[in-house]
Amino acid sequence: VKKLRQEFSVTFSYPVIFTRDIFSTRNDTLPQLLEPAGCTAAVVVADAGLLQAAPGLHDTMRRYLYALPGISLREIVVVPGGEEAKRGERIADRIREIIHRYGLCRHSHVIAVGGGAVLDAAGYAAATAHRGVKLIRVPTTVLSQSDAGVGIKNGANAFGSKNFLGTFTPPAAVVNDSDLLRTLPSREVRAGMAEAVKVAVIKDSTFFRFLESRSGLLAALHPGTVEQLIERCAEIHLEHIRSGGDPFERGSARPLDFGHWSAHRLEELTGGELRHGEGVAVGIALDCEYAEMQRLLSSQEKERVLAVLRHIGLPLSHPALAELNIPRALEDFRRHLGGHLSVTLPRGIGAAVQVARVDVPMMEECRRTLLRRERVDEQ
Ligand SMILES: NC(=O)c1ccc[n+]([C@@H]2O[C@H](COP(=O)([O-])OP(=O)(O)OC[C@H]3O[C@@H](n4cnc5c(N)ncnc54)[C@H](O)[C@@H]3O)[C@@H](O)[C@H]2O)c1
Ligand SMILES: [Zn+2]
Repeated sequence: VKKLRQEFSVTFSYPVIFTRDIFSTRNDTLPQLLEPAGCTAAVVVADAGLLQAAPGLHDTMRRYLYALPGISLREIVVVPGGEEAKRGERIADRIREIIHRYGLCRHSHVIAVGGGAVLDAAGYAAATAHRGVKLIRVPTTVLSQSDAGVGIKNGANAFGSKNFLGTFTPPAAVVNDSDLLRTLPSREVRAGMAEAVKVAVIKDSTFFRFLESRSGLLAALHPGTVEQLIERCAEIHLEHIRSGGDPFERGSARPLDFGHWSAHRLEELTGGELRHGEGVAVGIALDCEYAEMQRLLSSQEKERVLAVLRHIGLPLSHPALAELNIPRALEDFRRHLGGHLSVTLPRGIGAAVQVARVDVPMMEECRRTLLRRERVDEQ
């Protein structure tokens, strides 16, 4: 028997830049990223929903990008926003076809401008063309600037399964432009904030106190405060990927997926009517009730979490909760993790534990509490 062993490690590094007015001639963020990388060609993939909400942006982008010295911009590809972008291979194929048509190589860039869904689809196309064309992400939603857009995953949906396709591929760079959020509907802004509450509760009590003390400003969608929320949330995500010990998610635990086992099912049960972040808010409320029963949270701590969600204007309950099949949702979540069940619960505010077992009757009791609360709130 002969056995060889191969072993090496690779360091990944990419900047996440916060700026304003990225397509203004006074802003040199993009040329600074492209030129030193020896980039000669690029295509832009833009979110149709964004362009529709921001008339004039398409022309501004065109004028700016085609004038960049030393870079030949080949095309601005407009793709549908939201989950439509991730439906199977269709959109990714369109992007790969353009990469092929213009002869882009591994030193060329795809610049993706849009919400998390468009970034996922464009990232998937870029990662699988030539085994990896470089990707610059320009996220345009609160969720994607603080979470989906700053990490190392891409994906598309297939066989009725979300993110069935996709790779772990770090981007070349991420550029968060707060001006691009101005056209985002308020419901989307709030939904994005749910993920910030989520990371604060399980990772950072100082950040939680920040959210608590600014909940009025956040409810009013005050741009500067929303920017601060995004910055801290992005930082926590980057930190988690960098030093959480499992950047490529090889283990069973998904420590940042607090509140997500039920959120995924609630999104499905409502046929997508409930935004992901809204599902996460309900999921956080449910798991906080459970954490209180498990004596992981005091009743006062639980009330503080619920109050922040409520002040921001996020739902704490939803009629679809009544239809939630708890054992099945937990089993689906286990399969999604790809190993043992591992549910993240808060331990006080700012820390978390992973539990491998959920007491279903107790969780059902928590669900009843939330549904009762919904009825009281309605009256
Ligand atoms: N890769 C990851 O690590 C990761 C992490 C979390 C979520 N995601 C994915 O992100 C997606 C959700 O992303 P999202 O919450 O950003 O929403 P989204 O991409 O679904 O966009 C929501 C809607 O807003 C529109 N839009 C985008 N920017 C706009 C703007 N500035 N003004 C007006 N309209 C705008 C879009 O066209 C779309 O209709 C899901 O597919 C999810 O799976 C990926
Ligand atoms: Zn989420």
